Amino acid sequence: MTTGTMTSSATRVIGSWGLDEYLDRARRVVEEALAAFLPNVEEGPEAVCPSRLARAMRYSLLGGGKRLRPVLCLMAAEACGADPSAAIPAACALEMIHTYSLIHDDLPAMDDDDLRRGRPTCHKAFDEATAILAGDGLLTLAFEVIAREVQPPLAALRCVRILAEAAGPLGMVAGQMADLEAEGSTEDGTLAELEAIHRRKTGALLRAPLQMGAAIAGADDDRAEALDHYGKAVGLAFQIVDDLLDVQGDEAKLGKRVGKDSELGKWTYPRFLGVDGSRRRARQLAEEAVGALAPLGDRADGLRGLALALLERDR
Ligand code: IPE
Ligand code: IPE
Ligand code: MG
Ligand code: MG
Ligand code: MG
Repeated sequence: MTTGTMTSSATRVIGSWGLDEYLDRARRVVEEALAAFLPNVEEGPEAVCPSRLARAMRYSLLGGGKRLRPVLCLMAAEACGADPSAAIPAACALEMIHTYSLIHDDLPAMDDDDLRRGRPTCHKAFDEATAILAGDGLLTLAFEVIAREVQPPLAALRCVRILAEAAGPLGMVAGQMADLEAEGSTEDGTLAELEAIHRRKTGALLRAPLQMGAAIAGADDDRAEALDHYGKAVGLAFQIVDDLLDVQGDEAKLGKRVGKDSELGKWTYPRFLGVDGSRRRARQLAEEAVGALAPLGDRADGLRGLALALLERDR
């Protein structure tokens, strides 16, 4: 993954690696594991998973993406002194939930998008029913993977709870509902209401990787709280930058349509605070995230670099 133009403070080394190299390696490891967790494509009536469903799940899950949520989970575990490979199944589960949320977000009944990760959206490449089921399949597979693969069992239980709370009707799903209701509303809305939408629709699933990484590492309360604070701040900053990219981004680099938010009448940070005000707010949150990591020392340098690099991302 390239993070776009990086600030010098964001190119700190992680061990002897630069941030981009670390991210590339992490992405490769995660993608290999994702491919192995997915059902194989088998043709014919004997196929365990219907081939069309397996193909749609593989198409969306293995078709690009920054893999940010998995990387955050690996980095969080590492920042607490654990071997990051222990966090790979949880990292994969996060990416499955995220990809399901994107497949459904793109459906005609939601944001009605035809381009995702540089390719036709799942319902365009297949059809709406298949896209809904591919999303459902990824959502449930995520929890199967955690229950089966995360060790020890107490860590698995904690991860199931964290992920369910983040993705469910008080988290991402709540945020998506509120996003759609705001879109259709004639009310102006307040910044506090916008922030509440963004914290749930996107922030919750970016906070969860830090909490899951801490749970897998068996982190003490101080470290777990520091990571959670970081996750909350980065999660909101990330959606602010997503809103900015919809205004100022390049479709070819982003791999998704731009200008859709204002077309649909979405509530976004640029609409409420303007471009400069949104940039300032995102930077303030990234700096808050970096500050929160103080109790973790050098082992959290990757997370520090990432929070700042995300401000400059172009995809
Ligand atoms: C896009 O997420 C949707 C939001 C929650 C803002 P990402 O920007 O992480 O998308 P991918 O995974 O890299 O495609
Ligand atoms: C998506 O937010 C949030 C979720 C998928 C949960 P957006 O609708 O802004 O994401 P993009 O811009 O389509 O990637
Ligand atoms: Mg949306
Ligand atoms: Mg969308
Ligand atoms: Mg967006």
